[in-house]
Amino acid sequence: MSRESIKVFAPASVSNVGPGFDILGFALFEPGDEIILRKSLYGKLEISSITGDSGKLPYDIEKNTASVAIKSLLNKHEISQGISIEVNKKMGLGSGLGSSAASAVGAVFAANELLELNLSVEELLPHALAGEFVASKAIHADNVAPSLYGGFVLIRGYDPIDIIKIKSPKNLYCTVIFPDIEIKTSEARSILPTEVSLKKVISQTGNVAALIYGLATTDYSLIARSLNDVIIEPVRAKLITGYYEIKKAAMEAGAIGCNISGSGPSMFAFSNSEEVANKIATETKNVVKNLGLGSAAYISKVNEVGPRILD
Ligand code: HSE
Repeated sequence: MSRESIKVFAPASVSNVGPGFDILGFALFEPGDEIILRKSLYGKLEISSITGDSGKLPYDIEKNTASVAIKSLLNKHEISQGISIEVNKKMGLGSGLGSSAASAVGAVFAANELLELNLSVEELLPHALAGEFVASKAIHADNVAPSLYGGFVLIRGYDPIDIIKIKSPKNLYCTVIFPDIEIKTSEARSILPTEVSLKKVISQTGNVAALIYGLATTDYSLIARSLNDVIIEPVRAKLITGYYEIKKAAMEAGAIGCNISGSGPSMFAFSNSEEVANKIATETKNVVKNLGLGSAAYISKVNEVGPRILD
């Protein structure tokens, strides 16, 4: 019997991952958004409820990432089924954890299941990206792709889009520290340089290639040496109060590496044990507290599954 409604979870993600600006990302187990879709009146697409956003997200279906993603999907497949969307945000907006991407991914994943379309992740991807575009004003797939595909992904190219799933160590732990600041991706992109020196390109490409090799071969020492961003981090660190202090605390607690998650303010730190991952969370939270800010911390391995049906 076909469903009348569906509830799904779509995971947050860490993008850029040090040197991989716009080309690397991985999915987390938590946090993540919940999206509920209900079949409704013929042809009508609407947002019935949004929670957890402090009233900040639009109900206008042309502006909300979830509805834009579903509208793109319905148009492409000439589907006239009406759908009512409920968005339950379970992570901060402007957190650097792919919040808009998670809602767009949850929406297309849920629509595919609800309408029994049997579309592949490759076919769902452009619609989730259309949703992400309205929030970040840029085409970047490094949150959408890991959230949708699960796992650690490399975006080899954008024209055409080419997503490669890459291996990562079984015991890789990620601690996310999310200081209570909001940074809009569009603004964090507007301050980036439009040109970079060849010297920096050589350093960045060396690091990104080595990072992927280190992940694929479980070489923690290589991951540590290559989790280094010479282009974006020096510019965006200024947006995050106490960035270098927080990073120092993570490294002293035993992190393999630490950097900005997406466009921030969240930061991520890798470790290879749960004990160290917990210690990083405690120590970095303390630093943020001493800076007079609240924070949330999450500990997660790489989520290889991606979105899932809850109900
Ligand atoms: N790669 C994007 C950026 C991710 O850094 O602008 C945004 O979360």
